[in-house]
Amino acid sequence: MSEKRIEDQYPKTTVLKDGTKVVLKTMTHNDREGLHEFFARIQEEDRKFLKHDVSKREVIDSWLKDINYGRVLPLLAEVNGKIVGDATLHRRSSGWLKHVGEVRLVIDPAYRRKGLGSHMLEELILIAADAGLEKLVAEIVAEETAAIRAFRRFNFEQVAVLPGIVKDQGGRYQDLVVMVLDVSTALLPDWYYF
Ligand SMILES: CC(C)(COP(=O)(O)OP(=O)(O)OC[C@H]1O[C@@H](n2cnc3c(N)ncnc32)[C@H](O)[C@@H]1OP(=O)(O)O)[C@@H](O)C(=O)NCCC(=O)NCCS
Repeated sequence: MSEKRIEDQYPKTTVLKDGTKVVLKTMTHNDREGLHEFFARIQEEDRKFLKHDVSKREVIDSWLKDINYGRVLPLLAEVNGKIVGDATLHRRSSGWLKHVGEVRLVIDPAYRRKGLGSHMLEELILIAADAGLEKLVAEIVAEETAAIRAFRRFNFEQVAVLPGIVKDQGGRYQDLVVMVLDVSTALLPDWYYF
């Protein structure tokens, strides 16, 4: 999907199960402080399972230095100007995985179980479909059972477990669950099939 089409679609407002109004928008350079604060609110037990050490300023700074929606599309969710969710779609511009995207998702603990993760995942799936991606992959540490459930609801299937392959931020080895979605069979929350 072109940068122009993304910019035409966002920001957009959505309402969570409990009535909270959330703005979904793309990440910009103005989000630096908001992102630092957001990741500081993610508990250690979740943070240690994220691919990058988001407690480090330089990690977030490096994302902002190199914003390229064609490679990584970062979507943020905001409530009253505070970032409460971060979802990214990663893709390759060439090679045999060009038709495959990878999704990553983190929600502020205070905003979980309200449907926000599902809203953000739905957005990424629709963007992926629009961009012509055929498959989406999610790599999840096996202990993150909530995430595995959340992805399964969209018809992501567990295709592999790589035993002990992850060394988490705490230095412990963890199993990695690989989940794959055939985009044409995605089950969206409003049961809209494309
Ligand atoms: C996984 C995560 C993104 C889910 O976000 P969320 O906003 O709570 O998700 P939703 O409210 O849309 O929940 C969707 C479904 O997931 C499942 N789920 C979510 N949290 C759960 C929990 N703590 N226990 C059991 N099931 C859970 C439920 O089936 C839920 O639907 P329901 O609330 O109608 O029962 C969030 O827990 C998170 O940020 N986890 C840490 C980061 C992570 O593991 N990311 C995945 C790696 S890519």
